[in-house]
Amino acid sequence: MPFNKIVLSEKDIPKKWYNLAADLPGPMQPPLGPDGKSLKPEMLGRIFPMNIIEQEVSTRRWIDIPEEVLRMLCLWRPAPLRRALALEKFLKTPARIYYKDESVSPAGSHKPNSAVAQAWYNKKFGIRRVTTETGAGQWGSALAFACSLIGLECKVYMVRISFDQKPLRKTMMQIWGAKCVASPSRDTESGRRILKEMPHTPGSLGIAISEAVEDALSDPKRRSRYTLGSVLNHVLLHQTIIGLEAKKQLKLAGEKKADIIIGCAGGGSNFAGLSFPFICDKIHGKKIEIIPVEPTACPTLTKGPFAYDFGDTAGLTPLLAMYTLGHGFVPEPIHAGGLRYHGMAPLVSQAAKKGLISPRSYDQVKCYGSAMLWARTEGSICAPETSHAIACVIDEAKKAKKEARQKVILFCYSGHGLMDLAGYDKFLSGNLKKYKLPAHKLRRSLESIRGLPEIK
Ligand SMILES: Cc1ncc(COP(=O)(O)O)c(C=O)c1O
Repeated sequence: MPFNKIVLSEKDIPKKWYNLAADLPGPMQPPLGPDGKSLKPEMLGRIFPMNIIEQEVSTRRWIDIPEEVLRMLCLWRPAPLRRALALEKFLKTPARIYYKDESVSPAGSHKPNSAVAQAWYNKKFGIRRVTTETGAGQWGSALAFACSLIGLECKVYMVRISFDQKPLRKTMMQIWGAKCVASPSRDTESGRRILKEMPHTPGSLGIAISEAVEDALSDPKRRSRYTLGSVLNHVLLHQTIIGLEAKKQLKLAGEKKADIIIGCAGGGSNFAGLSFPFICDKIHGKKIEIIPVEPTACPTLTKGPFAYDFGDTAGLTPLLAMYTLGHGFVPEPIHAGGLRYHGMAPLVSQAAKKGLISPRSYDQVKCYGSAMLWARTEGSICAPETSHAIACVIDEAKKAKKEARQKVILFCYSGHGLMDLAGYDKFLSGNLKKYKLPAHKLRRSLESIRGLPEIK
């Protein structure tokens, strides 16, 4: 009888993270300061603790996971590798569909994988309080949970539209002892300025990042630091535990290799977490198709240029070499709040530039349709972000059927959607809108990167 899931025991949890920076071909474009000069690690020291900065710039292939972090990860890890047998049957596909179920974490997504590590490194460095932004509310909840385990204060700036769509995410953060405000807020200079210019803005991750960075920088006692839930190298590093576990589990399932790897991509962390260990195999000669999926409303990898840009709207972060829609971009209020980010992780961007991954974009209405099919076959209700991966999985499974090929498809089930039912409600009542970024809007938002240093 085919199995439904492969579960590793706690002693089999990977003990090291995998760092793709060690294997990516070609030099990485370094982060730059506002003057266009290479940024020295010490210059980041007011934003992040030094032990995190060391990870950010490391090119070591394997980095040990501290014992205490492993102990926290084992509260829910190793996460199961499941097989989507009912979906396969419904689609009559010869493909075998596997997924890493990251929805089993306390906050309901992959985000705690990095949250517990970041909270631990901050505490170890003597930091008392951390600030952050959150799009869908998943990262904010994850960090609030991690801070409550470790004993750190936590303040979360939550993108206005998600704050309104998902009020109970704020309650979750409060349960774990964090403070959560809607962004733009009146608590920071950048928030007040943006509210004056655009009083009805739905907000964006770029704006919320500006507020969280400004908040951390303005602590007179210098005991606050900023944390980011995606994009940066160290966050992607922490997430590689997903792909490392999946490799062991696929082997136990009797699979020699995966043919297609899929993940939704906002800032790139769950996609990177699953795919980076497989990108390593691809660099070393294996044939694997690796697909990040983003919304047509925020098509960073599929429509944006590869350029230097700020990670936030106000220009407080270093300049990163990445695919971007311009830091002035405010995406339409689609329901996948975690995919509404103007940029893409530099490591994911570099992998795209080198042709190692093949990005796609999907509209939210198609994605909700796929999420409905998923719920009615596999049972679970996925996060709106995750539905982008599922839409692509369904397309690939249908393609395998047409080609009569027994492909192995593996994707990241990045989170559950039990706090995101408003989007499903709109879909069911026929009120969900299609969004495709018009060319003139993209041209206008790319004005915001004009004059910034160019990639050499
Ligand atoms: C469930 C879920 N999946 C995916 C994402 C996208 O983020 P990333 O690209 O960093 O994985 C988010 C972000 O909030 C999320 O909550």
